[in-house]
Amino acid sequence: MKLDPRVALITGASSGIGAALAREFARNNWSVGLIARRKDKLIELTEALRQSGAIAEYSEADVAQIESLQRAVAQLREKLGPIDLMIANAGIGIPTRIEPFNRMEIESTFQINTLGVVYAFDAVLPEMLQRQSGQLVAISSLAGFQGLPGESAYCASKAAVNVFLEGLRMQLRGRGIAVTCVCPGFVKTPMTDKDPYPQPFQMSAEKAATIIYRGIQKKKKVLRFPWQTSLMMRVVRWLPDWLVIKLVEH
Ligand SMILES: NC(=O)c1ccc[n+]([C@@H]2O[C@H](COP(=O)([O-])OP(=O)(O)OC[C@H]3O[C@@H](n4cnc5c(N)ncnc54)[C@H](OP(=O)(O)O)[C@@H]3O)[C@@H](O)[C@H]2O)c1
Repeated sequence: MKLDPRVALITGASSGIGAALAREFARNNWSVGLIARRKDKLIELTEALRQSGAIAEYSEADVAQIESLQRAVAQLREKLGPIDLMIANAGIGIPTRIEPFNRMEIESTFQINTLGVVYAFDAVLPEMLQRQSGQLVAISSLAGFQGLPGESAYCASKAAVNVFLEGLRMQLRGRGIAVTCVCPGFVKTPMTDKDPYPQPFQMSAEKAATIIYRGIQKKKKVLRFPWQTSLMMRVVRWLPDWLVIKLVEH
């Protein structure tokens, strides 16, 4: 098997979309570096990828801890070579509660979903700037385009990612580094399996990974999918609060 020398690092690769992305990139002959906190899951996936002939390495890290993430990226760079692509995918989805107000969980949401992206980019940007080549990707969400009751912190953490990447993309123009903001709708993963509400147009993590892979190859600026949910979120922006509440409660 001829292996492409390109190297992709994926945070949150132990489960769901991140694990599916690792399989998709490995299948397309990328060398993959897997990052997450659960070592057993990372070992299991790394071994499965190697058995299929891919080059795969893992390193444990908490994306909310800058030193931990920097250490993991340095280890993977040492083993795999210069990093061509960073996919900041790690994220959590905890409902926002008001009685009692779950401030600490809200803080964790921002630390992982928003600062986790900043830290992941921080760990690879200097080498990409030096080589004038690379791609920075964040797995945001269509939820980042609208605040929703019970999901305020999650939506806000993703809205921050969307806007951060928008500015960064323009700032990096002409420097050889592409920026892609991925905004999926509902994807079947352990994160959404625990949600009780209906998830229209839900797709498998494998299908999402194929769409994301193609979008990254095309260096899309913003990748929203599926189109039905994307359209729905645009329409929701025009609805009165009472109707949004009614829709979310059903
Ligand atoms: N599923 C959906 O419908 C959907 C839709 C839009 C966007 N997204 C986004 O897609 C991304 C992946 O979500 P998913 O649905 O695949 O969820 P998932 O199956 O729960 O996977 C989340 C991943 O993030 C990792 N992670 C969480 N906190 C971390 C931390 N502090 N440090 C390092 N890794 C951490 C987890 O690994 P460890 O626990 O091993 O650390 C796991 O690998 C998230 O950013 C999510 O917001 C999901």
